[in-house]
Parts: sequence; C-alpha cells; structure tokens
Amino acid sequence: MCGIFGYVGSEKASAILCKGLKNLEYRGYDSVGIATVSSRLEIRKGAGKIDDLKVRLNLEEMEGNVGIGHTRWATHGAVTAENSHPHTDCEEKIAIIHNGIIENFYELKTKLTEQGHRFSSDTDSEVIAHLIEDQLSNNGTIPGIASSWNGSSFEHACFEAFKQLRGSYAVLAVRECEEKIVAMRKDSPLVVGLSEDGTFFASDVAPFLEWTKDVVYLENGDFVVADRGGVKFSSQDFGEVARPVCTVEWDLEEAKKGNFEHFMLKEIAEQAETIQRACVQDMAVVDRIAGMVRSGFGVFFIACGSSYHACLTGSYLFSKIANQHVNVVLASEFENYEHFLTENTLVFAVSQSGETADVLEAVRAAKRRGSRVVSITNVIGSSLSREGDELLLMNSGPEICVLSTKTYTSQVVMMVLLACALNGDHESCIRKVKDLYMDVYNLTARSMRDRLKALARDLAGNDHVYMIGRGLQYTTALEAALKVKEVSYIHAEAFAGGELKHGPLALIEEGTPVFVFVSRDNEDRIVSNAQEVKARGGIVIGVSDWNNPVFDRWIKVPDCGDLNPVIQAIPMQVLAYELAVQKKLDPDKPRNLAKSVTVL
Ligand code: AGP
Repeated sequence: MCGIFGYVGSEKASAILCKGLKNLEYRGYDSVGIATVSSRLEIRKGAGKIDDLKVRLNLEEMEGNVGIGHTRWATHGAVTAENSHPHTDCEEKIAIIHNGIIENFYELKTKLTEQGHRFSSDTDSEVIAHLIEDQLSNNGTIPGIASSWNGSSFEHACFEAFKQLRGSYAVLAVRECEEKIVAMRKDSPLVVGLSEDGTFFASDVAPFLEWTKDVVYLENGDFVVADRGGVKFSSQDFGEVARPVCTVEWDLEEAKKGNFEHFMLKEIAEQAETIQRACVQDMAVVDRIAGMVRSGFGVFFIACGSSYHACLTGSYLFSKIANQHVNVVLASEFENYEHFLTENTLVFAVSQSGETADVLEAVRAAKRRGSRVVSITNVIGSSLSREGDELLLMNSGPEICVLSTKTYTSQVVMMVLLACALNGDHESCIRKVKDLYMDVYNLTARSMRDRLKALARDLAGNDHVYMIGRGLQYTTALEAALKVKEVSYIHAEAFAGGELKHGPLALIEEGTPVFVFVSRDNEDRIVSNAQEVKARGGIVIGVSDWNNPVFDRWIKVPDCGDLNPVIQAIPMQVLAYELAVQKKLDPDKPRNLAKSVTVL
C-alpha cells in the first residue's frame, strides 16, 4: 500500500512530485524516490520520509517535465535505499514504480536472471523494469498487437511486460528520452488527474487536488499513456477506449490540516459535523437496501480493522432495533464462509478507503456466487464504490490520518440509520443524531482535551491497558483498544465484561489500568466486573454518564443509548491522540501502518 504519483506536462515535474508524495505519505512512509526524464533519466531515492529526503537528496532540483515518484510501505525486502522505488533495468534506461504485490515475481526473476539480468534489490517490483527491458530487446517487434494503437515500442514493451504479471499492481514506467508515462492498474488503486498544465497519476485523488478536480477512475486492466500532447486509455486488448472524466467534490482545504497540529486531531474535531453528514442519504436507496435485508437469506457484514468494529456494532444494533440477525465476518476470514453463499445472500462490504484488498477479494468471491453486495465507503470512485450492487457513501470528507476516527463514527451512525430503516423509521435516527451535535462538539472541545491530556500523562508509562464492556460497550472497547494500540504502541486489549473471569482477569495486577465502558442497559453487570478488577489491584477508569464508587478515574460522557458507540468512542480517540503526543510519536503516521491496505 505504497503511494505512487506521476506528472507529465508543462511544469517542472520534481517540485510537483515532492508535493504529491507529501500528500500521499499516509499510504506508506518507509522510503521515497523520484525519477525524472529530461535529456537523461535521473533517479534519486532513499530510506526515510519525504521531508528529510527532499532536502538530503535535493529532490526539487531534478530536471524534466516528466517524472514519477513513490512513497513505500515495505512488503518485500527490508527498508533500505536499494529496495526503495523507482527500480530500473540493467542499463538504468527504464524506471518503474509499483504499488501492490507481484505474486509470480520469483519465477519471473529466476527466468530473467538466467537470461543475464542483474537485480539490485530484494523487491518483487524490480522484475517489472527488467521485463520491459526484455521485451524491448525483442527490438519492439511484439506479435499480435491491436493495429489501432500506433504507440512506440516502449509502450508495446510495457504492455507485454505488464501482461506477464500476476497479483495486484498499479505501475508507472518511464524511459530515457521518451517524454511520456506508461501506466497500468490491476486490483491496486490508480487514478488520473487532467489539467491544462498536464496529466497527473496517483493512488487516489486527494494528492493532486491542488492542481485539478477532473479525475478519471481507471478500470481494472486499464493501460494508459500520457505525454505532453495528452493522454490515451486502452483496455486489456490494447484497443483504445474512452473513460469518463468526473469532478471531485472534496475541496483542497478538507485535505489540509488547517490550524490543527495533526490530521488526527482535525478529523476528531470534525465529528460533530460528519456524523450529521452520514445521515444525508438517498432514503429511497436506504429503504431499498432495508428491503433487500428483509428478503435476503443470510446477511453478512464484512470489513477490516475499525470498519469491522463498526460492523460488529451494527450487528448488535440490527438485532436490538430491528430484530434482524446478521453475520459479521473479518474480510480476511470470509473465504471460510463462502461455501453457503447463494444469490439470495446479501453482503455489506464496509471500507472507508474502498481499496482494502481483503474486502475487495471478499466482494469478488461473493459476486462469483451471485450474492448481492452493498458497498459502504467514504471514497467515491474507489474500487468498492464501483464493484457493489448498491452504494452508500459516508460523506466524511478525506481522512488523511492513518487512524480511522470520523469515518468510524460515521459508519456507526449509518448502521443505526439502516437498523431504523428496517423498522421503516429512519427519521428517529436522524433526530437522535441531530440531538448529538453539542454533546459531540463538547467532547472534542479544549476542556475535555485537557482532562484527557492529564490522564494520558499518567498512563503513558504503562506497557499494558485493558478495556471492558458489555453489548454495544464491548464493541466500543474493541475500537478504543485499537486506537490506543495503533498510535501509542501500548499493548491495549479489550474483553467482553463477562469474559474476564474466564481468563483475562489473570492479567490484572496492582496498578493495571482498566477502562470500563458503562451504559444504563448493563450497568450492574459491568460494575461488578469492575469490582473484580479492583479486587486484584487494578485501576478502574470509568467511561459513563454518572460516577461510581468503583471508579478510580472517571471520563464523563452523556448516555445516548444506541448512539453510545459514537459518543463513548470519541474521548478514547482523544486519549489515544494525547498518548501519542505525550510519547512524542507521530499520531498521523504510526509505525508499520498505512491508511489503506491494498495488499492481501
Ligand atoms: C483503523 O484506525 C485503521 N486504520 C485500520 O484498522 C482500518 O480501519 C482498516 O485498515 C480498514 O480500512 P478501511 O475502512 O479503509 O477498509
């Protein structure tokens, strides 16, 4: 799930690439590299983040109006300068960047090595450059090429090379003395931005919003060639095709930090608005989907990470509000349930990025069995937004911080909306969410932040913290633990309150901090679980509307019934943020993670 960016046009490419890569950094920040084409092919790359390398390697001085850039999230090969992209052929005349995984790279590398190719990295991606070189050494005479495409031998060679790849890939390729970029995508995201000053390529739209909002969303298998004269699209058979140009609604400011120190804090603070926007849906579509749930034979929610927690919360809400059973399955485990999918099965695929490979693979498996798919995503034009039978957009605006915050609460609100729609009463949900505005606003305000900052100071030295809850508070505990884990690197784990006595209680000793999520629905039982913790010396931190003698510390949040998963998650997002700041960690780009996980 690297970030790739390309530009060809009238401007100097290197400066544009540096900005684009900075905007893409949430997709991976292990290493950075740029290749530009002027009178020669020039490559500069290294391990580290764009801000450092831009200065250390003087990236912005690189010449040429054509260039490609990459920010890496390492899958194959350690985080080294050699393994950073762009990768080249033996003669260093061709440069490529890649996002995805080449599943047959080893067999291709072995074949090419036997033919005398010399490899300089441990990555899967480097084979692409050598494959193009190999095709070109065929003197460009490629059999069976569609006559309608009168492109250069380089283009033909790229096309034939890409055809040999198995796996997922978005690739950009350039060649010395050819002022053009050749690109292809299969299962990895790649979009094209069109402007008077040139053509942009990127892993998603946000990185080139400052130059254009005119975007082409590529289909799987699309092959693109862009030069200063314009851009050409072709499909699998190399025949030229037309692709629609869409205009992005997001504006640049939404994709910027504004006055906030970090995107995480900005996105947390946006929630009073974003949860309202999650309710702005075409109710005819919502009702149609509710009808599909009622008539379906087997309903599944599939997702990963925070989206999975929103789905789990949704399953409790569907049961509680609408007496409707749904199966919630981790997308990466969905293959174990494929056996009884039929055309009557309904699958909800939930993913903020809309590009999570595990979710897309599960969707394609469901579609192969004739099941219908409802996509819930935040990114219009994403693969998931185009592969479902029905689409609900979350309207949260761009989420740049690797951690999901505003998109998690928007997903939960959409689950409440759907559950209410199953009862033919989406108005009650919209009313409840409206009433939440000030409560959410206050939870993200300075006073709450100061209280949580003090708690973070006291907890920052801990190696372990635990979260317990029952019902909707259990799913909230899971999400809270994920936020703390992701951004502070403290081992945080959540348990259903009733499970404590069945093992996890052994983890509790003198001073162990345990968050207890309480609501009117299950106060007695969860408070007795808190007493079990206290009896072993644990420090009980209550998250509830009213104080309780068992609490050593108390985070006051209003009790909002079915919307508690929204209201109780927010102070935990703020706490996780403050823990990261306390520990001098980057809340927006936690180690080893990336915003959208486009590899399986
Ligand atoms: C959450 O903070 C993480 N970023 C991660 O768990 C995320 O929720 C997961 O990768 C799913 O992403 P998606 O919603 O874009 O599919």
